[in-house]
Amino acid sequence: MIQEDMQAVEARFRKNLASEVPLIGQVGEYLLSSGGKRIRPMLLLLAARLCDYSGKHHIELAGVIEFIHSATLLHDDVVDGAELRRGNRSANAVWGNEASVLVGDYLFAKSFSVMVGCESFKILQLLSDTTTQMAEGEVQQLLNTADLDVDEVRYLGVIRDKTAILIAAACQVGAVLADATPEQEAALREFGIEIGTAFQLMDDALDYVADQAEFGKERGHDLQEGKMTLPLIQAYAKAAESERVEIARIVEEDELTEVDLERICALIDAYHGIDYTRMRAAERVELAKTQLEIFPAGEVRDALCILADYVVARNK
Ligand code: IPE
Ligand code: IPE
Ligand code: MG
Ligand code: MG
Ligand code: MG
Repeated sequence: MIQEDMQAVEARFRKNLASEVPLIGQVGEYLLSSGGKRIRPMLLLLAARLCDYSGKHHIELAGVIEFIHSATLLHDDVVDGAELRRGNRSANAVWGNEASVLVGDYLFAKSFSVMVGCESFKILQLLSDTTTQMAEGEVQQLLNTADLDVDEVRYLGVIRDKTAILIAAACQVGAVLADATPEQEAALREFGIEIGTAFQLMDDALDYVADQAEFGKERGHDLQEGKMTLPLIQAYAKAAESERVEIARIVEEDELTEVDLERICALIDAYHGIDYTRMRAAERVELAKTQLEIFPAGEVRDALCILADYVVARNK
């Protein structure tokens, strides 16, 4: 349904990578051609279509959203010390942290210059607020490192800011472009918040249980980095006192051993941390779908529901 538009989006962001500084094109191209799922631009295109948008700016803005996402991935892999991304060596592993941070900055800055060209002050405001809030989420997550007092509520605040807000903005931009009613705009934003939250919940579950070759990222990496994600929060909340002491020791250690990772996985298993996380994600997806009920039934609405279901069904 959106294949042609997606091809146009790909062509557009290749054009936006053109810089006289060769390293920018190299790193950018490496990341963009490594096959991300492109869920954010797809959402923007479908949301615009759902609201009967007939202009041309959707292509550019879908590219902008993926550019912003790419910039955050470059920075995220530096912060997380990740070596794998989309099944390949991460950009920081290939070119080093300095190059990743600086090319990430380029992608951020370029996103804003493309956005200005779309001549919508409202969209510029929305995406500026979005990126600000994403940065807050990442900093808050850093502060939460190895903090065993992080509970589900605090965790949900972080994932909303770092991940759901951008996915929500993708959906909302589609509505804003089309001059949709305030009610439609709010419904699409809410849809994005819910599936965006589900998306990160699943990412955090998959970090423990995915097949590394399929997921394309290192298994157990969140634990290695002292990240308090829901599977672990749930296990810690339910565990017996002696097990809680053990979890605390493992979360706080600098180097995670294979034995300790397996021990945490066993405890998460024993206290159903993955099932609980999946259940929370599935609830969010159902809530998301109810937001779309104000729109006419049809193939576009169905496609958004399929994307919502994919968020919890995915293995990568
Ligand atoms: C990864 O996002 C970062 C998270 C918010 C979990 P995606 O899973 O959408 O990454 P790609 O673009 O498909 O690789
Ligand atoms: C990513 O969270 C959030 C961003 C906004 C980049 P993660 O750190 O879990 O993402 P992955 O697992 O590295 O893709
Ligand atoms: Mg990461
Ligand atoms: Mg991270
Ligand atoms: Mg992750």
